[in-house]
Amino acid sequence: MTMPKQQTTPRAPAAAGAGPAAGVRLGDVAVRFRSKKRDVTALSDVSLDVAPGEFVAIVGPSGCGKSTLLKLVAGLLTASSGDVLLGGERVTGPRHDIGYVFQRAALLEWRSALRNILLQAEIRRMEPAVARARADELIRMTGLGGFEDAYPHELSGGMQQRVALCRALLHEPPVLLMDEPFGALDALTREQMNTELNRIWRTTGTTVLLVTHSISEAVYLADRVVVMSPRPGTVTEIIEVGLPAERDYSETLGRPEFRAAAAHIRDLLGAVSGHD
Ligand SMILES: Nc1ncnc2c1ncn2[C@@H]1O[C@H](COP(=O)(O)OP(=O)(O)OP(=O)(O)O)[C@@H](O)[C@H]1O
Ligand SMILES: [Mg+2]
Repeated sequence: MTMPKQQTTPRAPAAAGAGPAAGVRLGDVAVRFRSKKRDVTALSDVSLDVAPGEFVAIVGPSGCGKSTLLKLVAGLLTASSGDVLLGGERVTGPRHDIGYVFQRAALLEWRSALRNILLQAEIRRMEPAVARARADELIRMTGLGGFEDAYPHELSGGMQQRVALCRALLHEPPVLLMDEPFGALDALTREQMNTELNRIWRTTGTTVLLVTHSISEAVYLADRVVVMSPRPGTVTEIIEVGLPAERDYSETLGRPEFRAAAAHIRDLLGAVSGHD
């Protein structure tokens, strides 16, 4: 089935000082994990081209290789065969220029929210004043103002995820990789984070690869949605969402393009339950 195509509104230019967005390319990638106990083919024949500044969401059943795919792009895993390119360069080892929001927030318990965000600056030896100004801007953008000195245990799960998001964005990465970043949040906070992420993406112009189990989250946020098959994960279909970049949450969910894309993805995922 082909989704109705529609002219998309061009996004605002990247924020002043933002690094240029980078494209991502996977060509015929396969990943096999071999151990004494078992051999698992996590990914097979995966090809995907993500344009600089594009937002691509990845959905698929548990264990189909979504996290594996992000780890390949980040250089945390090496493909058994095929090519992985970031910004036109082959990925050969861990990439420090990207932003990565892991499946769990992974904050340091002994550091305050602000110091967790600034960890990124310390690792990259960013100019402290520049890093602090950018951290303040992100804290404001994500509604964390007033909690700069709070420790992770004093923050809600949603706030911890927002701190992790700020940390991933601090250095204005050319690519942002997000692995189910909002899975643990209540519905309302998740909606707010979706709206926020749409705004951040539009204003920073960064490339985003987002793994999610939520069909509505994928369609609301992405230019294209990659639907993967059960293991060994392959690309079943790539759906063009065809919505304008700036998306009001409730208005978007009522649009025919949104409903058509969501229904089609739900059909593709078939009997796999647990998708909203
Ligand atoms: N380091 C590893 N060693 C061995 N097997 C692995 C490793 N990492 C992942 N796998 C296997 O690869 C497959 C894909 O795992 P992956 O974490 O990519 O799935 P996923 O799509 O992210 O699932 P979920 O939605 O549950 O997070 C699984 O069968 C898993 O057991
Ligand atoms: Mg995963």
